[in-house]
Order: sequence, then C-alpha cells, then structure tokens
Amino acid sequence: MPTSKSSLINLSQYSKQQFENLCSRSLSLKLKNNKLESSENFTNKFVAALLFFEPSTRTRFSFEAACARSGVHPMVLTGAAGSSAEKGETLLDTVTNIAAMRPDFFVIRCGAELDLNHVAKQINIPILNAGWGILGHPTQALLDCVTLIEKWNTLEKKRILFIGDVKHSRVIKSHFELAQILNYDIGVCAPTDFLPETFKNSATEAFTYFNNLAQGLDWADAVITLRVQKERHHKILFDVNNYRLSYGLNSENLSKFKKEGWILHPGPINYGIEMEQHVLADPRSLILDQVQNGVFLREALIRNLLKD
Ligand code: NCD
Repeated sequence: MPTSKSSLINLSQYSKQQFENLCSRSLSLKLKNNKLESSENFTNKFVAALLFFEPSTRTRFSFEAACARSGVHPMVLTGAAGSSAEKGETLLDTVTNIAAMRPDFFVIRCGAELDLNHVAKQINIPILNAGWGILGHPTQALLDCVTLIEKWNTLEKKRILFIGDVKHSRVIKSHFELAQILNYDIGVCAPTDFLPETFKNSATEAFTYFNNLAQGLDWADAVITLRVQKERHHKILFDVNNYRLSYGLNSENLSKFKKEGWILHPGPINYGIEMEQHVLADPRSLILDQVQNGVFLREALIRNLLKD
C-alpha cells in the first residue's frame, strides 16, 4: 500500500526523471484516450477521498475523471455545506476521521491553516495537493509544463512570463520549484501591489521583473496570465480599469507577441480584467488544452501512485 512518502505536496524534491516519466505517461494516456490494455486496468480496487475545502471546478472534476479512468472510486467532499465542518468540526478532525476509513489516498484543496506535510505523516496515507492556500498547486504547474512540452518538446531555457496577481498565486509558487528542475526562465509582470514582500526586498535572480507588459511580451516565449484573486485581497486597493489597461491581454498587445508564442491561464478567467474574452480563441491559446491535459496528468499521477 502506498504510504505518505508517495504524497505530492510540493515540487522541491521532484526530479527531472520523475517529471519526464510523468509527462510521457500523461501524453501516452492522452494518445490512447484511455483505451488501456486490460493489464493496466484495476477497476474498483481502490478508494480515494477528495476533500475540497476551497472552491474548484477544473481541478476537482479532473481528479474525479482521473479516478474514474483509473478504476478508483472517488469519495468527494466539497466545502463545509452538508459535512460536520458546518457544525464546527476542524479540517484536521475531518481529515483524521476520514483517514480512519482507510482510503488509498487523499486529494486535498485547503487553506494554509492545515499543515499538509504534517497531516500526511500523521495519517500515513498519501496526500495529493490540489491547491494549498497561496503555498502551492503542484499538479497545475505540472500540467502547464506537460502542455508546453507537447508544443516544444523541451522547456530548457524557455522564457515563461507570469502576468498579474503573483502575490496570491499558488500556481506560480509551484512553477518557481519546477523551473529549478526543468531549467526554464521565469519572468514576472505585475503591479508592485501584486508582488510578495520578499520579492520587493530582495535582489533575487530567480526571475526577471517587468513593470511594462510590452517589454514582458517581447521577452517571453509563453505567457501564463494569472487570475486576480479578489477573495484573497485584504489591504490592496485594486482599480479594475487601470489593471485592465496596463496588464490585461487583448488583441492589440497580443498583436505584438510572437506568432509562435503560447498563451496559458490556469482558470477560472475574469474576462475584462486579466484578458478579453476573444483571447480564448486566439490560435496561440492553450487554455482548454491545459484543462484537457489536467485529466491525463492526474490519471498518470494516480496510476503511478497506486503501482508504487
Ligand atoms: C487555480 C487555483 O485554484 O489555484 N485554478 C485552478 O486550480 N485551475 C488558479 C486560481 O484560482 O486563480
């Protein structure tokens, strides 16, 4: 049985070899569209607990689809409504009690109040991080990279520009870890209010900073524009119109972006803020490819986990 050692909570210990295996398995699952040889099917042998304490559409559905495709029964909890969390039970107690029912693994989306590393050790069941506060979202970074590998074959020395709410993005946190492993360059284009304090105070070499979108687009091979996370803003006075004018993707600024460049967004999209609606249909947009690849990436992850 897999133990907490097979958890995926962050990517700092991930290796290039692990990524390459996961990526090729994801893409071969996609190619076969899950028409697997019977030896690879282990229908109904496993049970997973999917706990989504924060809202989710793509990540939750793709984990559910990935479970179904791998013969894993998903038990899904979404939000507090209908569970004992409504009666005041803590997240830790919820996880500990469900762990007592011995699912084969957990998929958890939650805020930073739950220490996923600590919980995984305590329950000795693997946890797949499906978005943890602003700390990380490893499967999103992995699926972004699989989507770009499909186009480029390699990420070595590629320049990826992240636009927008870097401060509150768990997606970019996982990309900072993965970029070290896969050797791509990160650029950041954001108003200073959207930069974490640590970025403002240190002369870090981990990324190139652009305060001007045109310069950022000129530098980039691909852009990942991030959702403005209004629900996480406390002290930020955010002016939608100014933001849209300076950082929103539209046909005018994208007309100056490389013809062979790629546009990504983890979703959900705030149209009219980080991008105009027609950008989704730009031939360089990989936004729905990301969603599709998310299923195969998570299926590959689950199949690897259960074969440990
Ligand atoms: C992201 C998330 O929830 O972290 N979306 C996702 O998982 N597809 C990004 C976001 O919410 O902005």
